[in-house]
Amino acid sequence: MKLKKVSDKKRILVLAGDGIGPEITKEALKVLEAVSQKSKISFEISEGLLGGIAIDKTADPLPPETIAKLDKVDAVLLAAIGGPKWENLPQDQKPEKGLLRLRKELEAFANLRPAKVFNCLADSSTLKREVIEGIDLLVVRELTGGIYFGSPRGKIADKTYVNTDVYSEAEIKRIIVCACEQAMRRSKKLCSVDKANVLEVSQFWRDVTIETVKSQFPEIELSHLYIDNAAMQLIRNPRQFDVLVSSNLFGDILSDEAAMLTGSIGLLPSASLGDGSKAGLYEPVHGSAPDIAGQGKANPIAMILSLAMLLESSLNLPKEAKTIVQAVEQALDEGCRTADIATVGEKVLTTAQMGDIIYKKVNA
Ligand code: IPM
Ligand code: MG
Repeated sequence: MKLKKVSDKKRILVLAGDGIGPEITKEALKVLEAVSQKSKISFEISEGLLGGIAIDKTADPLPPETIAKLDKVDAVLLAAIGGPKWENLPQDQKPEKGLLRLRKELEAFANLRPAKVFNCLADSSTLKREVIEGIDLLVVRELTGGIYFGSPRGKIADKTYVNTDVYSEAEIKRIIVCACEQAMRRSKKLCSVDKANVLEVSQFWRDVTIETVKSQFPEIELSHLYIDNAAMQLIRNPRQFDVLVSSNLFGDILSDEAAMLTGSIGLLPSASLGDGSKAGLYEPVHGSAPDIAGQGKANPIAMILSLAMLLESSLNLPKEAKTIVQAVEQALDEGCRTADIATVGEKVLTTAQMGDIIYKKVNA
């Protein structure tokens, strides 16, 4: 996958969003400050509105001012959006619609969601240590097509609604190529997840996948699972998987499940990339967690690791990205825990305390 040519300035648009978004954004920016001090690289940060806060201030979940900024940056760092306050708005005015439109604007069709177990946290998973130890998998989710965007949608008759799952050959091919490129860098194993026993669109997905892998990536060992079986296998024996690829909706579900295997969804970052002509989008896999917002309870690590992915993939700073990942690993190894990953009796850190520790390690 090609990436956008980075400007010298290394410009990042930050969208703090709703709920715990602003708190975790603050910690990620702290860590970026440490990177900047340490490496003498300067970053140009701009801020924008997305989600509920954008609705409150502009009556639009993705206002034109935010859209206008997208072309002027190399990458977008987004925290989380949504909350009960906006839940009863019509579907097309909800915060989530802003996020979906943002992904479309950036043509970010490939969503990479790595799920890696930090072995020191293997006991905070709800699954047994022996099942999850050593998990290192990647969910590649198609992000700009499928049932999320298909037409017709909405009300079609009295008390009757419809959504449409639709994929073109070109859409399937480009996500499969992306998943194959990832697999080639890893174990050369790819599992495509569909529901080809029931859905025509899934059978087509499977046919195009087989053809694409055969013609372009013959070295890859390709397998297929139905979504229900994949969901079950992921819990039963997650280590059998390396790269999983799926449609928008199935990938949404599988990536939450994969995240939970690792102990906390508060740890997992993601990258959403297109063909390289637009900025990459980086965001934690978790949501805005309105129930704990503003209380200093949120885990900032998924956001900080999303920043690391941003530095590596969109700004071509792999060394700096690695420094952040190592700082996070060290903090966890030393027993630093926010509430979501603490076991009984362990000292619980606030969002800012965890951010401070990682900041200091990056800056050391
Ligand atoms: C995610 C979220 C979003 C999605 C929502 C907030 C629209 O669940 O990023 O996984 O469904 O894509
Ligand atoms: Mg989701």
